[in-house]
Amino acid sequence: MLGFSYILGALSLASVVSSTAILLPLYSWPEDNSTWSPVYKAAAAHPDILFQVIVNPDSGPGETTYPDDSYIASVAQLNSYSNVEVIGYIPTGYGTRDISSIKTAIATYSNWSSYKAENITISGIFFDEAPRTNDDTLISYMQEVSESAKSSSLPTVVFNPGTKLETGSAAEYFKAADLIVEFENSYSTWTSIVPADEISDTYYDKAAILLYSAPLTADYEAVVHEAQGMGLGAAYLTNGDDYKTADSLSKVAASFVQADGDTVGSSSAGSTLPSAVVSTVASTAVSTVASTAVSTVTVTAVSTVTLTAISTVTVTAVPFQHANAQAK
Ligand SMILES: *[C@@H]1O[C@H](CO)[C@@H](O)[C@H](O)[C@H]1NC(C)=O
Ligand SMILES: *[C@@H]1O[C@H](CO)[C@@H](O)[C@H](O)[C@H]1NC(C)=O
Ligand SMILES: *[C@@H]1O[C@H](CO)[C@@H](O)[C@H](O)[C@H]1NC(C)=O
Repeated sequence: MLGFSYILGALSLASVVSSTAILLPLYSWPEDNSTWSPVYKAAAAHPDILFQVIVNPDSGPGETTYPDDSYIASVAQLNSYSNVEVIGYIPTGYGTRDISSIKTAIATYSNWSSYKAENITISGIFFDEAPRTNDDTLISYMQEVSESAKSSSLPTVVFNPGTKLETGSAAEYFKAADLIVEFENSYSTWTSIVPADEISDTYYDKAAILLYSAPLTADYEAVVHEAQGMGLGAAYLTNGDDYKTADSLSKVAASFVQADGDTVGSSSAGSTLPSAVVSTVASTAVSTVASTAVSTVTVTAVSTVTLTAISTVTVTAVPFQHANAQAK
């Protein structure tokens, strides 16, 4: 069961990271500060969520030593949030690309940390078009590119085969990567499959899902709650099909429910819940709030909760069940 505690007593918003992250492919070109502002706003509003943001100047880092000025300013802005990790995009052509060109791209991203005027340090690499097969040559190729990233001060390594790893290959690939996207598909496909069939057993915490063409009217909460319920490493849904808009990000972030025991915010008795907490509460399938001094509080349509003598409030969310969960 999903739930979280709202603990009173201290003064500021705590930044405890929810165990499921948002893996955001951010492939738009930042023309000016407004292009990526939905990302800045979501990161600031949800300090409890880790945002792993994939940047992609030119199907990789591009040919120049550093990106252009608007890109630099925008990556530096992302790095200003402690709950954002900026990850560089590199395609591997399903293990067919010349490995030396991949190492050059890794070296370029790694070198961004030498830029002096702004902090454009990259924290990891997203290897797109990753192989999934149980083939020794391909497995050692992915091990080599992962080691190259990690030994270049790019510790977070993500592989994107976009589909479930072939039987027998999961142990090796998951050893080489911190996160593997095992389901990248349309929202409508997601609603027709059984999620547990699509993710390698025992690796849920290192697996991610990316859903595209998810209309903004779709049930984002159901998907996010299911990802959290499965304990997936990361998840994201977008209404587009090319990762060039972040229109859906605020909806994805607002759908997150804190894990049991996470501290999502705090203040003194008599004060008002931080708005980030209120919006989380109001947007989830919560029906009751149990606490020591209050028996039941209905939170449907709550905009502000004023606390008086309450010491601890525990919010219990209704766990989401995938429509096909019974099919297995
Ligand atoms: C860019 O936008 C963010 C918030 O959306 C703001 O915090 C930041 O100061 C802006 N940067 C510039 C250079 O205007
Ligand atoms: C620059 O950003 C990286 C990644 O977010 C961070 O680890 C590092 O501490 C930052 N460096 C400075 C000097 O702020
Ligand atoms: C790293 O950046 C410096 C400039 O600060 C440049 O001289 C050097 O060639 C760059 N190295 C790589 C691998 O891009």
